[in-house]
Amino acid sequence: MRKVKVGFVGLGQRGCGHGLSNSDGLMGNVLNNPEAEVVAICDQYEERLDFAEKLILSKGAPAPFKTTDYNELIKGGVDAVIVSTGWSMHVAVALACMKAGVTVAIEVGGTHSIEDCWKLVDCYEQTQTPFMFLENCCYYKDELLATSLVRNGVLGDVSFCQGYYCHDLREEIAGGIDTHHYRLNEYMNHNCENYPTHELGPIAKILNVNSGNRFTKLVSMSSKAQGMKQYIAKTDKYKDRLGNVDFKQGDVTTTMIQCENGETIFLKLDTTLPRLYERGVTVSGTKGFYCQTTQAVVLEDIDHENTSYKQVFNSADNYKDYLPDDWRTITEEQIKAGHGGMDYIMLKHFIRCVKEGRPMPIDVYDAVSWMSVTALSEQSIKMGSMPVECPDFTRGKYKNRKTIDVLDLPVIK
Ligand SMILES: NC(=O)c1ccc[n+]([C@@H]2O[C@H](COP(=O)([O-])OP(=O)(O)OC[C@H]3O[C@@H](n4cnc5c(N)ncnc54)[C@H](O)[C@@H]3O)[C@@H](O)[C@H]2O)c1
Repeated sequence: MRKVKVGFVGLGQRGCGHGLSNSDGLMGNVLNNPEAEVVAICDQYEERLDFAEKLILSKGAPAPFKTTDYNELIKGGVDAVIVSTGWSMHVAVALACMKAGVTVAIEVGGTHSIEDCWKLVDCYEQTQTPFMFLENCCYYKDELLATSLVRNGVLGDVSFCQGYYCHDLREEIAGGIDTHHYRLNEYMNHNCENYPTHELGPIAKILNVNSGNRFTKLVSMSSKAQGMKQYIAKTDKYKDRLGNVDFKQGDVTTTMIQCENGETIFLKLDTTLPRLYERGVTVSGTKGFYCQTTQAVVLEDIDHENTSYKQVFNSADNYKDYLPDDWRTITEEQIKAGHGGMDYIMLKHFIRCVKEGRPMPIDVYDAVSWMSVTALSEQSIKMGSMPVECPDFTRGKYKNRKTIDVLDLPVIK
């Protein structure tokens, strides 16, 4: 069986679990996949190359080609490149891969440049090199359950969706002074919805964005920025080095997006205040409502007089038949392989798409329409929260494109 030869650019936390005690990152999933092998690795730091090489050797695989220059890696006989650098390098590496005819998959994150989005679209259209956006939350069971409930008509016609990226990242951001983590510079220099795609990706799929629908307008607002300053002031290891920094990024950024077919979307970024992780996806339709946080499905015939909200917590469990096969057959080991199983499922399907030459389920048009929310929200905030137009990166093709769900969803009679 011919294995897909994979190269990695970016060997930090996400790439190979560098600096983490509980994860081998994306690379761990590829190393455990019998249909793939890691043949080349790239990072700007030699020490991270050595770390990733050790991980590869520990799985009994041959030593990879190592380089600090991603152009060398692309030339080195790889079938596909996974890009897990910080956000600012995703586009440059993706363009280089597509120009060389090498399939590329980029990690998630926003972009500050609409021009870069057009570069990705133009390069893809000129080269037709397969491009994938690794939005793993599109593969998670909750988001897929919500999608399946919509596709099967259980929630009726959808009017509104909401989602969050709530994650207390104060230590990761401040720690960037020692780990070189890209978030530190981002939070010092920008104020925007900097990480929209975990929640927006699944929502955009649900609403058929780029397939008969599109984002038309966006407005964003940020709160004051005080979480990082106060965290650093009471943290001995950072206060001398970062105490004088004025972070630009507001603590909570809220964004509203309007769609051509009349739906609205609410996004919240909340990463510099104490709180628990939450994506909080909700879908509101004419026949029902889904809420990820409470794991609730509420249908239109609910007895309002005699039902309290707490009684419907976890009612989503009653809809397991709506889940795709991958989630009904997942093993404990696969769940442990990263982010509750979604990394395993996403990479398994990505490798299959490369191997069988199938279309990528999250393509360049999806990627740029989701990533561009960062640049557009930055513009909106700079203009005192004025609305800004969302570009149509498909140049009109969205009207006739068919939705590709990331996995086959069951049809329930
Ligand atoms: N999907 C998820 O669940 C998830 C989770 C965490 C991170 N991420 C994404 O993964 C990406 C990386 O995040 P991270 O936390 O691992 O960051 P990190 O800083 O730990 O790792 C990034 C690595 O890229 C390397 N790098 C940067 N520029 C490079 C270049 N020009 N050439 C070679 N190497 C270069 C850095 O040296 C670093 O080792 C980001 O896009 C992030 O949004 C996704």
